[in-house]
Amino acid sequence: MNIIDGKAISAKLKAKVAEGVRELREKYGREPHLAVIRVGEDPASVVYVRNKARACEEVGIKNTTIVLDEKTSEEDLLLTVRRLNADDGVDGILVQLPLPEGISEEKVIDTIDRSKDVDGFHPYNVAGLWQKTPHMSPCTPKGIMKLLEASGVDPKGKRAVVIGRSNIVGLPVAKMLLDANATVTVCHTRTVDLPSVTRSAEILVVAAGKAKMVTGDMVSPGCVVIDVGMDRDPETNKLCGDVDFDTVAPEAAFITPVPGGVGPMTIACLMENTLECARARLDGADRSL
Ligand code: GUN
Repeated sequence: MNIIDGKAISAKLKAKVAEGVRELREKYGREPHLAVIRVGEDPASVVYVRNKARACEEVGIKNTTIVLDEKTSEEDLLLTVRRLNADDGVDGILVQLPLPEGISEEKVIDTIDRSKDVDGFHPYNVAGLWQKTPHMSPCTPKGIMKLLEASGVDPKGKRAVVIGRSNIVGLPVAKMLLDANATVTVCHTRTVDLPSVTRSAEILVVAAGKAKMVTGDMVSPGCVVIDVGMDRDPETNKLCGDVDFDTVAPEAAFITPVPGGVGPMTIACLMENTLECARARLDGADRSL
């Protein structure tokens, strides 16, 4: 069994991004700028947004974190997004999800300028993924594909099973695995006899949001297991994943730990996406001169 070291793999990607940031600064005299908006005090979001700011600092990307009150109206949030859209000095905009009740995530995502959509959540970018036209890829699925590649796992011809069908992870990673020529099955809460499906997997991606739900008896020997979960163990209150690491790891050929697996890779991909947005905007402005 091999533990996929997301921290080490993400450190390499961040070093590459830092190099790109230096080149951009030399060419255009400024670094990429990522604006992150958090609404309210959801404890997980507080940690995620702080980690994003830290990563920006590491790679030399300018970061502005905007914290809005829990009671902020949808209209005020949309105004903030529009202000950032219009600001030529901002290259990337990320609104941390989930948003408080009463604010439409759909409207907020639609409002983000698609050229600054570092999350790849805007309908234009989602369509680009599904139609294979140029687009920004969502960070977590992109990070998962990079973890597989760095581990020497080629999805081509393999049976891949994804648990979860969210817009953020399950659906886009299923599409990316399909594009990498895997045979893909997507499971969800209504799937009948989940263990029989997961046992057929050569690659198993778990993005269910349920602590330790995949146990050793649910995977076949030699499976590659990617755990997207960020949960609390109900017994110990410790951070854990959707995969019961202790029983699954002995069966797996490769497995990502939590923490230190998918999480750091998501953030490194966000840095890469921000650099890509900045490059596209600055090179584009250069061409129109
Ligand atoms: N909440 C959980 N994951 C994500 C993500 O990738 N992007 C944003 N904006 N919010 C999230």
